[in-house]
Amino acid sequence: MHSIREEHTMKTHQYEVIVVGAGGAGLMAGLYASRTAKTAIITKLYPTRSHTGTAQGGIGAALGSEEEDHPEWHTYDTVKGSDYLGDQDAIEFMCNEAVQAVYELEHMGLPFDRTPEGKISQRPFGGHTNNVTGKAVKRACHAADRTGHMILQTLYQQCMKNNVNFFDEFEVVDLLMVNGAAAGVVAIELATGELHVFHAKAVIFATGGHGRIWEITSNAYAFTGDGPAVIMRRGLPLEDMEFFQFHPTGIYKLGILITEGVRGEGGILINGKGERFMEKYAPRVKDLASRDVVSRAIYMEIRDGNGANGQNYVYLDVRPESVNKYAALDGRKNPDGSPYTVTGEEILAKLPDIVDFCRVYLGVDPITQLMPIQPTAHYTMGGIPTNKYGETILDEKNTTVPGLYAAGECACVSVHGANRLGTNSLLDLVVFGKHAGLRAAEFAHQAEYQPLPADPTEFARLQFDRIRSADGKGNAFDIATTMKKVMFDDMGIFRSGKGMENALKVVRELKERYKHVTVTDTGSIFNMELINVWELGNLLDLAEVTTVSALARTESRGGHSREDYPDRDDKNWLKHSLAWVRQNGLIDLKYKPVVITKYEPKVRTY
Ligand code: FUM
Repeated sequence: MHSIREEHTMKTHQYEVIVVGAGGAGLMAGLYASRTAKTAIITKLYPTRSHTGTAQGGIGAALGSEEEDHPEWHTYDTVKGSDYLGDQDAIEFMCNEAVQAVYELEHMGLPFDRTPEGKISQRPFGGHTNNVTGKAVKRACHAADRTGHMILQTLYQQCMKNNVNFFDEFEVVDLLMVNGAAAGVVAIELATGELHVFHAKAVIFATGGHGRIWEITSNAYAFTGDGPAVIMRRGLPLEDMEFFQFHPTGIYKLGILITEGVRGEGGILINGKGERFMEKYAPRVKDLASRDVVSRAIYMEIRDGNGANGQNYVYLDVRPESVNKYAALDGRKNPDGSPYTVTGEEILAKLPDIVDFCRVYLGVDPITQLMPIQPTAHYTMGGIPTNKYGETILDEKNTTVPGLYAAGECACVSVHGANRLGTNSLLDLVVFGKHAGLRAAEFAHQAEYQPLPADPTEFARLQFDRIRSADGKGNAFDIATTMKKVMFDDMGIFRSGKGMENALKVVRELKERYKHVTVTDTGSIFNMELINVWELGNLLDLAEVTTVSALARTESRGGHSREDYPDRDDKNWLKHSLAWVRQNGLIDLKYKPVVITKYEPKVRTY
């Protein structure tokens, strides 16, 4: 038996491009980079267990399969959905590339659902509209309610076919920077506990989000923000960390996602009094308003005593008789002009996983019963700052870091600004994963390997040695539970200065307690206790940065909704935050302007 501390083994590998993470963004980056550069993908999971596999309702692209649509409308909706904090050049780039990206996935073999004419089927989703009528438009291309799963499987097959190298169950714990450039990463092989050095010309982080900071979340256990935490410890900033999205419909208490596709297919939200309350909050698109609007509306209903059974939940109703009734009231039509109706069999065919989840986790059959739901922590809008080519940004002047890239949820391009539209995350990871892969390979062709540091695993060892030798007076489970609760209560859908100050105080106390946490497992083979404690450190660091960034922003915008500053303040706050953790542990904030091209900020109505 040996431990990381005792043995100091070091295996070294050399690849021109290293991708960290094997979700949609990582696979897409690896696939593209590997076409011209020697590439490996490192993942702490088995690739097809990555969190992209849980994305349900669709990928956004203005194909216009069933009704008129345009990339320009998609662009405008995304800018508006972002509460004008998204960078408009990057948004336009993504929405223009969307159509080709979806056809590329189709040609790779992704089994999209089809219209009767054989086109890719599309469904409405929150915030996606016909820009002329203001009504919901069918823009989400879907494979039942398993779209992310299908993307993941399709891309993994492509990577296999193209002989991309994989290091499965290797967890990256440090980034090597030499002469201001990326030089590789250090990873732990979970099966042995050995540290491996991956020497690279270019490194792409695609490690996903950090929703496990919150108590109720749709995020997988693996979503512990490893990439951003590792990068931040190497002195690089994180962007717009105050913006985190709550998805309106998570399974009550469990947080498991119930796709917005349910509402796209005609499902409606009703409160404890049986009222379709979204009519009050978004008269035009109702249940298909953007997520920040719907999540707030649910909470306001609960606060006003309109929760179901006096509890913290409302209902999602996709029973065919309700869908048909409200579709008739809304005047919803099929493409041929006939009234829109659904049957139980059609709901089952379109939303098979949702029906299953509700039957299994709630004992509720959505075809005949109401689904109890509450908002769930879902998506990290902020992250590692990049430009639209995935190049990582170092400062408020948009200086890039040679050889360092990021894509997908761990990155902030920023195309989602203060609030992401549903379906734009799958789009983001396909488009920006591809460009990060292309750019990294291009960079690798002309760059030399940086020399490795004399002791490349030193910083990684220090972190694990500290955990192994701590006095054991801290309890990881208690710390995690307290962090999740305070973040949910005080850094959730509604925030206030007082609440956020409390969250910051608690998180800082927890960080002190964390220093005393050790492990009882002294072995090295699949020592998940050790790994989980290290990941808890990442979550605590990110919780602190998130809270500090949020406290500083004295306005309400998108997912950041302050009761003490209820209005959006474009004069002072139409800007991105950048947060650095300094050597002394303090967090510095700076700001950079939002890129506005065509759309001047307006008050949002839905
Ligand atoms: O509701 C959903 O299916 C989630 C999609 C997304 O987050 O984009």
